[in-house]
Amino acid sequence: MSPGETGGRPLWHGRLDAGPADDLLAFTVSLPFDRRLAADDLAGSRAHVRMLARVGLLGEEERDAVLGALDRVERELADGELAFLPTDEDIHTAVERRVTELAGPAGAKLHTGRSRNDQVALDLRLWLRREGREVARRIHGLQEVLLRRAEEAGDAPVPGYTHLQRAQPVLLAHHLLAHLWALARDVERWRDALARADVCPLGAGALAGSSLPLDPDGVAAELGFGRRFENSLDAVSDRDFVAEALAVAALLQVHCSRLGEEIVLWSSEEFGFVSLADEYATGSSMLPQKKNPDIAELARGKAGRVIGHLAGLLATLKGLPLSYNRDLQEDKEPLFDALDTCRLTLGALTGLLATATFDLDRMRSAADDVAGAATDLAETLVGRGVPFREAHAIVGALVRRSREEGVPLVELVTAEPRLGPDAAALLEPGVAVGRRRTPGGAGPEAVAAQLDAARARLADQRAWLDVT
Ligand code: ARG
Repeated sequence: MSPGETGGRPLWHGRLDAGPADDLLAFTVSLPFDRRLAADDLAGSRAHVRMLARVGLLGEEERDAVLGALDRVERELADGELAFLPTDEDIHTAVERRVTELAGPAGAKLHTGRSRNDQVALDLRLWLRREGREVARRIHGLQEVLLRRAEEAGDAPVPGYTHLQRAQPVLLAHHLLAHLWALARDVERWRDALARADVCPLGAGALAGSSLPLDPDGVAAELGFGRRFENSLDAVSDRDFVAEALAVAALLQVHCSRLGEEIVLWSSEEFGFVSLADEYATGSSMLPQKKNPDIAELARGKAGRVIGHLAGLLATLKGLPLSYNRDLQEDKEPLFDALDTCRLTLGALTGLLATATFDLDRMRSAADDVAGAATDLAETLVGRGVPFREAHAIVGALVRRSREEGVPLVELVTAEPRLGPDAAALLEPGVAVGRRRTPGGAGPEAVAAQLDAARARLADQRAWLDVT
């Protein structure tokens, strides 16, 4: 065995003689999940090796030998040829072990001035930088579909609800855009969180930096980070960036869940506002007549899982003394799973919404429910000088009488001297929603302006996401 070779022995074989026990390996191993960091680990190692050569800790030949070995490891990983050993407890160990086998003594210099503590923090930041943006891109895609469906909806009305009781009619476009704005905030939260995560921890070592002439600024610049860490203890123990990503993901899933819940309601026979394309609906194994909104339900259900990941990580972090503790290895699975869940949820919801059919007639007749114009009647009285509280009581009493006595509201309004036939005209189908003129309101003019604002917001997102 050449001097640099670890040959399946643990990285700490110099210090510990016996072991590791099988139980220890089984319990501590993270390779099954952290192999997802392989590409980022290789990128980090390349930058580290080049820096070591720049500062004179590695000769040019050694540098090239290690870079060549890293390329080879990359190919072996891609082809599924890298044979992992039981002692490869994580991806960092596996890559270093293989590089050392391939490059000999030069390979054994790869880890100079570096610890897995700063290495793993780096890998995870690199991973999040790419995957977080991908999630944001998918949020953008869902918003684009919401925008298109809102544009297509034109002036079609739908009942607006509070307490899940019909309240006032709104344009369907207005309702769809409400979800768009929530998602726009999610994109901005990703942007903020990723900007804060844009710190390179390499060079912090195990916890204290190094006596070697490392160049953390150079490595940070080469890897495209905005800046390097300010404090080595913080660099290896900070998982705020993971917690923030989980918080952003959890809120995003909550938004997807609320959208999902409305699709469940709207596609029920009771509402009948939307029907799903066959490709985006499921059947029942027993009930032949069923067409089920499983995507929408899972969008709702999976929110619980991502919220759980956030709560779990915060619990992991809350008692940790500085600096690195092995507990921190528990950061990866929740992060991976949360972002996978977001990506899948967004993809499925986007397809579902792009292909769903809105039953505009059914929405219109529900929106034309005369009681939906009660507020407009009260506002008409306000326009005639009646204090609002009194106007509210007058109209409320008419609605009650109409319900109790079974008299159409339009007749009572016509007969009421303070209202009369002019006011009764407000109860005509489609009239009430047209009167919502205030900025950000639910009527056609305000919604036209809102559509413009939404288009501008999406264009701004595209500039950041670099999508056309
Ligand atoms: N697999 C470890 C993790 O995910 C890498 C760091 C191990 N560091 C250590 N000191 N044991 O956190």
